[in-house]
This record gives sequence, structure tokens and C-alpha cells, in this order.
Amino acid sequence: MGPRSAASLPRGPGPRRPLLLAVLPLLLLLLLPPPPGSDAGAGRPPHLVFVLADDLGWNDVGFHGSEIHTPHLDALAAAGVLLDNYYTQPLCTPSRSQLLTGRYQIHTGLQHQIIWPCQPSCIPLDEKLLPQLLKEAGYATHMVGKWHLGMYRKECLPTRRGFDTYFGYLLGSEDYYSHERCTLINALNVTRCALDFRDDEEVATGYKNMYSTNVFTERATTLITNHPPEKPLFLYLALQSVHEPLQVPKEYLKPYDFIQDKNRHYYAGMVSLMDEAVGTVTTALKSRGLWNNTVFIFSTDNGGQTLAGGNNWPLRGRKWSLWEGGVRGVGFVAGPLLKRRGVKNRELIHISDWLPTLVKLAGGSTEGTKPLDGFDVWKTISEGSPSPRVELLHNIDPNFVDVSPS
Ligand SMILES: *[C@@H]1O[C@H](CO)[C@@H](O)[C@H](O)[C@H]1NC(C)=O
Ligand SMILES: *[C@@H]1O[C@H](CO)[C@@H](O)[C@H](O)[C@H]1NC(C)=O
Repeated sequence: MGPRSAASLPRGPGPRRPLLLAVLPLLLLLLLPPPPGSDAGAGRPPHLVFVLADDLGWNDVGFHGSEIHTPHLDALAAAGVLLDNYYTQPLCTPSRSQLLTGRYQIHTGLQHQIIWPCQPSCIPLDEKLLPQLLKEAGYATHMVGKWHLGMYRKECLPTRRGFDTYFGYLLGSEDYYSHERCTLINALNVTRCALDFRDDEEVATGYKNMYSTNVFTERATTLITNHPPEKPLFLYLALQSVHEPLQVPKEYLKPYDFIQDKNRHYYAGMVSLMDEAVGTVTTALKSRGLWNNTVFIFSTDNGGQTLAGGNNWPLRGRKWSLWEGGVRGVGFVAGPLLKRRGVKNRELIHISDWLPTLVKLAGGSTEGTKPLDGFDVWKTISEGSPSPRVELLHNIDPNFVDVSPS
């Protein structure tokens, strides 16, 4: 922009031109709008905290009228921007892949179901992921929780894909206490169990009998407490809650003794514990003085699994299905950097939109990525302007088998 503007200036007397040309960039800098990152706050790129819940259904949060109490989520959503027309993919791996690539899974070979435990697959190594882009923009990047984007070789691991640190499990589900995943090895016709818990790239053995959500919350708050506030933070907290198996400490069941359905009873307790965890994380952000420059995002990865306690009423369908119950997601954005707060946003937003949105907020660049399907929707969320997105592609899967409920 600088050189072209300079070239179009009327030519001044010879000797003065070099001076004018030297001063011009400075003048332009003063006149230009501030760089993207500072759009959000007081000049520093905002901290970005993304909490991804697993299999949380539409009717599983208080702010959608659920019988399950979620006071922390309700308060955050009420003071932020509630996403009412927000779509995810109907399954874990596809949603997570789109969150971190900004691209539809038809481009990454991940369009069929999920990555199963013994499957030699991961997000292609030539995809540039969100944490890499944020790292390049100067962020500290931490991930806690469920990866589910492939682990069959080291190059696939979160710490090789842009995260400074990682703590969590690499597959799609496991026991909340033993952190083991059991799976049938078809070729041998035997079931084998293995510990799936990692601290960075090392197997983490010291957490047996500790409920994963509590362990993850503690790691998240430790990261926040130790984080130097002047450095921008990206924290991706991908909770195990509230995916099956249905497990939760007993004390969380008590408030829901009125629920007859056993699955729903346990599930309700799990949602409550998760709600508390989110409250603990936001409290830590506030105590550390980070909150006033934080964009906080809460999202589910797909609709609720009605066969395992979830409920998507009044939406039809469930996880795995392309009905609204499978793909219309619970989500909100919170934090003081939003220009309009306490509103319900009805604009079309998709999980692939987070990458360009967050990279822009960070003052970073998406130049190193392959062509994106996501849109920068910050203005849509923060100011309520129309979404740049007018349609979305759910999937193209030649091997698709319909397993959705009628
Ligand atoms: C697999 O093992 C089970 C017992 O563990 C047996 O009942 C079943 O017939 C076996 N299936 C095949 C295909 O061998
Ligand atoms: C945020 O809080 C910190 C610590 O309380 C303070 O130093 C800083 O000026 C605040 N920033 C903004 C944008 O209010």
C-alpha cells in the first residue's frame, strides 16, 4: 500500500522528495486503522481460550432450558454472545479437524466417521493448524484434553502440530478414571486395553483414579497461573466431558436424584461437574488478570448422544446424524472485548470459521494455509453484522452409511 500511494503523489521539487518519501510511511501508519489484533482491545493481541465440550447436546445446558443446572455457563453466555445458529460437524474427529484447519474434511481425507484407535491416520502433515498460526503470531500455545486427530506416528502429535505443551489423551474416548481405552482387535479377535494419557509426548502414569475433567482443569489453571500476562495465550481445553462412558463422582448425582432415566441421571451429574470446571477456569483467568483481554469461546463438538444421556430437544436427531440435533451446536463467546454483549446471535456460523476468526484477532496471517472454507466472523459475533457465510457443506462421503435415528 505504501509504495503505491507514494507513487501517486504529485511530484514535488527534486531535493524534497526523499524526505517526503521517508516521512510518508510514518504518516500512513498514523492514518491507517490499527492492526487486526488491536481491534479487540487495548493494543495487545487478546488471550484466546477455547473450551470444547464433547457430545454436549442442545438441551443439556440451563440457557437452553435444560433440567440440568449450568450456572457458570449460563452466566457467561448471558453476559456474552450466545450463538443460536452455530453448526459443527456431527462427529468428533471431523469437527476437531475443521476447528484446527479451517477447512472442510473433504480436503483432509477425514470425511468418513472418526479416526478409530488402530487406524493409521491423522490430519495430513501438510495442513497448517491453528496453533501453528498463533505461534507464528507470537502466542504461547497450550492444549489440554482430547486430541482425536491421529497419533499413529509422532509427527501427528499435538506437540508436533503447533502446541508448546500438551496434556491429555489422543483417542476419542476412554475411562474417566483409569484413562484406559479398550478396543477389539478384529484381526486377533481379542480386546486389548491401553493407557491413553500423555504429558507432552510422554505416557502419563500418575493419574489413575483421578477424574479426567478435574485433572484437566487443574492443568489448565496451572498454565494460566504461570502464564506471563504480557504474552498472548492460546489455551485449547478439549474436555472429556460429557462423552460416554457415563462416569462421575457420586456427589454430583445427588442433585439429580429426581431423574428416572439412569443414563440421564449420570449425564446430568457430568454436565454439572463440567460447568464447575468452566467456572474454575474463568476464575483463574480473572485472578491472573488475563480476563479483561481474553476472548473466551465455549463450544460443543457435535450434538448430544441420546443413547448415552444426551438430549437435543427440540432438535431432531443426535450425534452421528445430519439432523439438526447432530450438527447444530451449543456455543457462546464471552469476555469484555465483545462490542455487543448479552445478545443472542442468529447469524450462520460454522466450526470451520474459528481458525480465520482467531488468527485475525491474533494479528496473525493465514497465508501459510491451504484454501480455507472458514470465514472471519469476529464482526458478526462482536458487532452483530451479517455473517459472511451463506451456506455450509456438511460432508461428501462416498462410504456414508446412514446410522441416524428415525
Ligand atoms: C471371538 O471370540 C469370542 C470369544 O472371546 C468367540 O465367541 C467368537 O466366536 C470369536 N469370533 C470369531 C470370529 O472368531
Ligand atoms: C487488565 O488488567 C490488568 C491487571 O489488572 C491491567 O494491568 C490492565 O491495564 C488491564 N487491561 C485493560 C485493557 O483493561
